Amino acid sequence: MKFAVFGSLGWAGSRHVEALTKMGHEIVALVDPGAGCAAQAAAIGALALASIDDLDLDSIEAATLALPPHLHPALTERLAKAGKHVMCEKPMASDSTEARRLADFAASVPVTIMPGYLLRCNPHIRGFLDALRDLGNIRRVHLSTNVRKPSMAGWRSEPVIGGALLVNAIHQLDLATWFVGESLTPRMAQLDNVHFDAPTEDTFFTSLVSPSGVTASVFSSWSPYPPVCDDGLMITDAGRLRIEAETDRGAIILTATGYRVNGEDVALLDVVGVNQFVRELEHFVDAIETGTPLWVTPEDNFNVQKLIEDCRAVAIPPAGRVQSRQAA
Ligand SMILES: NC(=O)c1ccc[n+]([C@@H]2O[C@H](COP(=O)([O-])OP(=O)(O)OC[C@H]3O[C@@H](n4cnc5c(N)ncnc54)[C@H](O)[C@@H]3O)[C@@H](O)[C@H]2O)c1
Repeated sequence: MKFAVFGSLGWAGSRHVEALTKMGHEIVALVDPGAGCAAQAAAIGALALASIDDLDLDSIEAATLALPPHLHPALTERLAKAGKHVMCEKPMASDSTEARRLADFAASVPVTIMPGYLLRCNPHIRGFLDALRDLGNIRRVHLSTNVRKPSMAGWRSEPVIGGALLVNAIHQLDLATWFVGESLTPRMAQLDNVHFDAPTEDTFFTSLVSPSGVTASVFSSWSPYPPVCDDGLMITDAGRLRIEAETDRGAIILTATGYRVNGEDVALLDVVGVNQFVRELEHFVDAIETGTPLWVTPEDNFNVQKLIEDCRAVAIPPAGRVQSRQAA
């Protein structure tokens, strides 16, 4: 399939480029105004473009977007209106109003528009969820990430589009909603600056409940020294994810090779070292080519962006910002 990658120089966009190259797709153009785009494009025989205005839309069939989130909606719509399929990184918009509009738009166009919640396509997480479902009614789930960050810089710490909640916990809130299979309402939420004196939080915690009484909790932290151990963790280069759940018939935790259910280790085949971006883009292409229903949709993106706003609305005021560790 013929692709353009928008934001190709960034953390996520460079991984889209790598994954599509590995999969053997043709990348027609890299679109990124940053220095280095020409060299990146030359290495894979693609055009280097600074803007969508320079792109011949007839030359591509699909695009991936990995941009500061407020840029996602307009580009997604412009590409889709030109008949192009779009895989757009999470969050697809900067707030739930825009996310709602985008979900309605996506439902009205004859192209595939998929948000980039790559954990939903990860065979490790999918295997864990199969085992969780086999364990009967879920009672409680906890998901936490500890992401290594030496500093908070760039758009990720800017108000409205940045912060540990919107940038990282978004994945866990999406997984929590998917695992529980019901809407979740926050009972409390905490957004604090534990490590960095920055305009947005480096630490987020929430306790949620579903209409049938399932409890979910989510913790996400950006830290220079994340606590990491080998057990019960899926180690990725983006951070450390831990998941544990209790059901009517037992307890299950995610492990580095699969999961542990009621004390028994189960290894999942071919999950260690899996390239999550390849798996995500394989599913995206499969959905386009075969009509397989998407595993994650713009509607799911709206639900999680709305949940983020619900968390902010109930957040307890911070006790006070800490003095920056770097300044101390
Ligand atoms: N799925 C994941 O696990 C994951 C991980 C990281 C980031 N993301 C998401 O990916 C998106 C990008 O994040 P990032 O960390 O890669 O950011 P980044 O800052 O590293 O990269 C963004 C890139 O976009 C480019 N850019 C800016 N304006 C542009 C425009 N108009 N057209 C084309 N390119 C433009 C910048 O030059 C930069 O190279 C965000 O939505 C983020 O939440 C997802």
